[in-house]
Amino acid sequence: MKHNTVCLWFGKGGCGKSLSTYAISSHLSTRFSTLAVDLDGQATLSSSLIEELPEASTYGWFSKTHDFDEVVVPVTPAFPERLFLAPASADLAKAEPETAANLDRHFLLADVLSDSDLQFRVIDTPPNSGICTIAALVAASHVICPVSTEPAAWEQMAAFEALLAQVKRRMNPHLEWLGIIPTRFNVRNNLDNEVLKAINEKYGSLCFSPVRSSVRWREAMVSLGPPWNQQSTDYMTITNEILERLNHEKIISPADCGQ
Ligand SMILES: Nc1ncnc2c1ncn2[C@@H]1O[C@H](COP(=O)(O)OP(=O)(O)OP(=O)(O)O)[C@@H](O)[C@H]1O
Ligand SMILES: [Mg+2]
Repeated sequence: MKHNTVCLWFGKGGCGKSLSTYAISSHLSTRFSTLAVDLDGQATLSSSLIEELPEASTYGWFSKTHDFDEVVVPVTPAFPERLFLAPASADLAKAEPETAANLDRHFLLADVLSDSDLQFRVIDTPPNSGICTIAALVAASHVICPVSTEPAAWEQMAAFEALLAQVKRRMNPHLEWLGIIPTRFNVRNNLDNEVLKAINEKYGSLCFSPVRSSVRWREAMVSLGPPWNQQSTDYMTITNEILERLNHEKIISPADCGQ
């Protein structure tokens, strides 16, 4: 089932892909059964949701040694019970060379996720366009790019759009670009404001509300608890904007997040 499979990808590192996946999947899970899928060997997302990385990881889906259920685990009890994780491991580095001769390698993830009946799947990807990223874009119904409000990130937009167009043309015609999340935004920084203005001018309704730059986010990710414990509502707003664009009712409220 491809419906409501949201992939977060951008070709530049450190733009908040893993943070956004952690925060959006946490918020979604207050109302919907949600699977956070970690396809980055750095396992940043996995480490924010479970204490110890298990042996089985999403690599097992690429090596065809594990099926869907053998990889998916519950997250630590601090999160809503509807949240599950498909964890990453350093083994993912082997997926590229090991699947090189496999003609259907870009479709392996889509096949495995079709076994999932969870309402949402949110996929974190590495900052490159290797097998994990392409497989995620092929498995996804929607893609979101988190872009930090700095010129160096902004310059990567053309590469993002080119890859997206190629995947849509050749591999997944149903893939929809759901939007851009401007991240690490510092309202007091002129350059940040200029980049945010440029993003809004060029992409208009594709833009989600910005995520402010705050040390709280780093703290949230290492706390092994949900983002709302840090008293910030930026990602609740974005999650509701996502639900709105997917034609769901806007239903996640501070009360859902114990606030
Ligand atoms: N809005 C923000 N404010 C402050 N720090 C942030 C913000 N977003 C991300 N960070 C921090 O920046 C670092 C990189 O974020 P994250 O890991 O989410 O990026 P990424 O795009 O997944 O990186 P990579 O490409 O390496 O996987 C982390 O330490 C994270 O806590
Ligand atoms: Mg990451």
